[in-house]
Amino acid sequence: MKVIYTEKSQLLASKTARCLGCKTSEVKYNKFPDGEQYLRIMDSDDEMVVVSSTVDAETVMQVILLLDACEGRDVTLVLPYMGYARQDKKFNEGEPISARAMAKALSEGASRVFTVNIHDPSVLNHFRCRAENLSIAPEIGKYIKTMGLESPLILSPDEGAENFAKAVASVGGWDFDHLNKTRLSGSEVTMAPKHLAADGRDCIIVDDIIATGGSMALAASMLKEQGANSVRAAGVHGVFASGGYIKLMQAGLADIASSDTIEKASSKFSASEIIAEAVRR
Ligand code: R5P
Repeated sequence: MKVIYTEKSQLLASKTARCLGCKTSEVKYNKFPDGEQYLRIMDSDDEMVVVSSTVDAETVMQVILLLDACEGRDVTLVLPYMGYARQDKKFNEGEPISARAMAKALSEGASRVFTVNIHDPSVLNHFRCRAENLSIAPEIGKYIKTMGLESPLILSPDEGAENFAKAVASVGGWDFDHLNKTRLSGSEVTMAPKHLAADGRDCIIVDDIIATGGSMALAASMLKEQGANSVRAAGVHGVFASGGYIKLMQAGLADIASSDTIEKASSKFSASEIIAEAVRR
């Protein structure tokens, strides 16, 4: 078995290979004079594992080319962060279901697909091969353990994500809750834990994705107003669009962490072990 990668997922691919006890194969990337992409896999095996978060259009194209170059092999495609997955329905007439378009394009040549904490697992139904979503909630839990906090309160930004908070909290037997948003006026909202008080607690907001950071930043400032001792953020996918990281810093978060599904300086825990475990299965 060999692990191959696109340029933006090199760290995760090499960590996954290490967990699997196999090698990464060198992939040469280049461009033709007209700007079209060229790649060449230098060392193939019967089983190939492609690790690539589809973080931009160039990477999507690299994945399509890698899958084609793996012709005749048994290919597992790992999409740790699947771009376009959030447009999972037609909100207006004339729009694409982008998640479906991506799933169709990326199924060609793959025998199985793994995603990591995809926003809506129903997207998996669009793949033309077996597809499974993995959760790295236990890795976030392990990361929180390293903080040495006595009794952290794990919070999800909304009720829909409370099961995720519960899975993280189960690692340390910690309290968990979801934040409840109340609209006070057209422009004013307030947010507080639904069942537990934040006062004097070390709060950690966990979520599948930190996109613009707006939800986390609002939650953090509200929790501080309610007397939280400290507020930290841990998201699986750290997108930080539109100055999201700065927004979170300005909101006074004591720590901002994400996984290596998107490789950033904030990548403080890894999806590699859970991916390797699934591939081995
Ligand atoms: C929403 O349901 C997701 O789980 C995230 O909470 C959301 O995408 C975060 O977006 P942002 O960082 O832009 O507030």
